[in-house]
Amino acid sequence: MTSAGFASLENEVMCVESNQAILADVSSGKVPIFEPELENLVNKCIKNQKLQFTDQIKDVLEFAEVIFICVGTPQAEDGKADLRQIESVAIDIAENLHGYKLLVEKSTVPIGTHIRLKNTMSRHLKGKIGFDIACVPEFLREGNALKDFFNPDRVILGIESENSKKLLQDIYKDFECPKIWTNPATAELIKYASNGFLAMKISYSNMLADICEATGADVDSLIEGIGQDSRIGKEFINPGVGYGGSCLPKDVSAFIDIFDQNNVNNGLLKEVDSINRLRPHRIITKLKSSIKNLENKRIAVWGLAFKPNTDDVRNAPSLEVVNKLIEEKVTVNCHDPQAINQFKKALNKNTNLTFFDDMYESARDCDALIILTEWPDYMATNLDELKAKMSNPLIVDGRGIFKPSEIQKSGFEYKAFGLKENNN
Ligand code: UGA
Repeated sequence: MTSAGFASLENEVMCVESNQAILADVSSGKVPIFEPELENLVNKCIKNQKLQFTDQIKDVLEFAEVIFICVGTPQAEDGKADLRQIESVAIDIAENLHGYKLLVEKSTVPIGTHIRLKNTMSRHLKGKIGFDIACVPEFLREGNALKDFFNPDRVILGIESENSKKLLQDIYKDFECPKIWTNPATAELIKYASNGFLAMKISYSNMLADICEATGADVDSLIEGIGQDSRIGKEFINPGVGYGGSCLPKDVSAFIDIFDQNNVNNGLLKEVDSINRLRPHRIITKLKSSIKNLENKRIAVWGLAFKPNTDDVRNAPSLEVVNKLIEEKVTVNCHDPQAINQFKKALNKNTNLTFFDDMYESARDCDALIILTEWPDYMATNLDELKAKMSNPLIVDGRGIFKPSEIQKSGFEYKAFGLKENNN
């Protein structure tokens, strides 16, 4: 997204990609992930000759003065951010460097990574060559990447030299949002602090949903009631099956580690994480409150992607829910408008799993339907058609997409987060 975004703003951009399959795809204008409008943008930029691709770092170093590092920083087994890809890029750059470059961290990296990069670079440079490191974290959301790229709420620019400032001022001249100039350590921290805060809002709303379930308070009015306070805001307070994806879960975990490393209390973040981890289990508990023995039951799961408008299933609640259903010897019928292929790869086993292109067909003869992603198609469900297909009209809704009053009129037993069980 970063490369196509900058290329469409009339910059000359060259991308280096070491994975040959991905390189072949993107060079021919095929984007290997589902992201609305991105493929069109990439093709437009290739056609305008603003965007090119290579597998050689040398080409990029000859071509550009500013290099954005956008590699993954996945979660390592110990919960920390795995910095091997970023380290290896730094080594590759240093070994091939002949003149001044500005290296910009776009990947999400722990505080102090700019110093680590500087040290790695210095160890591998062949001679006395100048370079700067800056940190300009990325805040775009999957499924909304284009809009977020072109209309960011803010741009954070962590720099250490006047030259870095000059170069980045030019690159970001078309962005009219507030620009916050700071040092690289603060920029690195802002990224984690933002994702941590978003995760905290979601876990807080999930905690509120639980107290609604216990007391019978109305969860929708509660969320509306707090969200109308402009200091709280309406976004990221929708309760449900929890946050997934490649960012919030891993960043909260890495942020917890950053606090540990610095001996600073991180109890709040740990609770955010633990509330989230329990959400997929609660789906099974809700299901079992209606169907005590799940063995040999047939259950449809709608929504495999971690959120709508993406085919990404990394840390998606669907993985845990479906695995648990398989353990319980359930026959599972899965549907998702985009994520079936990714889900098959991620799950790596297919006992009792069937995938459907048609959402209604997936519910045929099912004892229950579980909803885990709020895809627009699901929100527009024809409830009569759905009910006619199912053998038992039970919906366990992990995203609260239906109004309880409406769905009850159509004869479904409806269970969702925040609804008192015996009120259903
Ligand atoms: C997140 C941040 O929102 C971006 O700002 C950031 O740039 C990105 O991580 C990143 O670090 O690269 P993303 O992971 O694409 O973006 O998805 P979100 O829209 O944040 O949703 C994350 C999860 O939270 C999803 O599973 C979603 O269903 C869940 N969610 C979101 C809720 O459960 N409730 C809400 O109210 C909002």
